[in-house]
Amino acid sequence: MQEPVIRTEALTKYYGRQRGVEDLDLEVKRGEVFGYLGPNGAGKTTTIRLLLDLIRPTRGRAEVLGMDAHAQGVAIRERVGYLPGELSLYDKMTGSELLQYLGNLRGGVDRGYVASLAERLECDLRQRIKTLSRGNKQKLGIIQAFIHRPELVVLDEPTGGLDPLMQHEFHRMVRELVAEGTTFFISSHNLPEVERICDRVGIVREGSLVAVDEIESLKAKALRKLEIHFASPVPLTLFQELPGVRDARLENNTLSCSVVGSMDAVIKTAARFEVLNVVSPEVSLEEIFIEYYQGGSDA
Ligand SMILES: Nc1ncnc2c1ncn2[C@@H]1O[C@H](COP(=O)(O)OP(=O)(O)OP(=O)(O)O)[C@@H](O)[C@H]1O
Ligand SMILES: [Mg+2]
Repeated sequence: MQEPVIRTEALTKYYGRQRGVEDLDLEVKRGEVFGYLGPNGAGKTTTIRLLLDLIRPTRGRAEVLGMDAHAQGVAIRERVGYLPGELSLYDKMTGSELLQYLGNLRGGVDRGYVASLAERLECDLRQRIKTLSRGNKQKLGIIQAFIHRPELVVLDEPTGGLDPLMQHEFHRMVRELVAEGTTFFISSHNLPEVERICDRVGIVREGSLVAVDEIESLKAKALRKLEIHFASPVPLTLFQELPGVRDARLENNTLSCSVVGSMDAVIKTAARFEVLNVVSPEVSLEEIFIEYYQGGSDA
């Protein structure tokens, strides 16, 4: 098996007595789009800064591209694209001056490629950065993370401020780069976006990883809503006693409930009666996250 692109071992950061992250064991595989999610203050930005050696761990360690995040920080940053959460750019420069400056620092940057990124994101590079809107600054931030065609791109909330059209263009860019073998680590609060572009997600809450899984399998494990319409009255207690069934109610011969795990028992019990219709709306990542964020799941 290929070695992971990111690997952390009991990675822990305290800011004085304030908890940043605690005992993170994280692995990101080559070529995947890994979504990193969690409520405000959970530790996402802290994790990203540790990976890029912008802050030092209290204990534990991180490896990026097989190198030690701290000892080989410089070599890592050459091969990683990074969009910080709080972007601060050189205000007096124009977009093209900034990208040229960063390109010179990086070396070997293809100007045509930079121009094509700017065109796709409709980013006017002639304007001074201080006169740009928030979304247009963010576009510049994304472009600078991509210009040297890095193997790994780490993005801290990339699409805040981007309009829906630009978000779509950004998603297309991510998919194209993934097809070329680029790995992405993306922190986000935009759950529909994560659902669309990420292969796996890690959920961090109060500094600890509470779940890491493929989106599809997270969805399969989640609490699902179920509605069964019967032709005639059915005994509610029969359903209330089934394993995994929660909040069962009956109204006008319609049973509504939530189910954790397999639906098998409910469906087989329902099949003893005349069923007119079964409705189970698809769970969104959003609902799954609310469960985790609120500490409702013991996964
Ligand atoms: N420089 C700092 N000094 C002290 N505490 C800090 C510092 N930076 C972060 N923290 C604390 O560490 C915890 C994690 O913060 P972090 O910025 O990593 O969260 P986050 O998941 O990125 O949140 P958000 O979604 O709001 O960006 C928070 O409790 C925060 O107050
Ligand atoms: Mg953050």
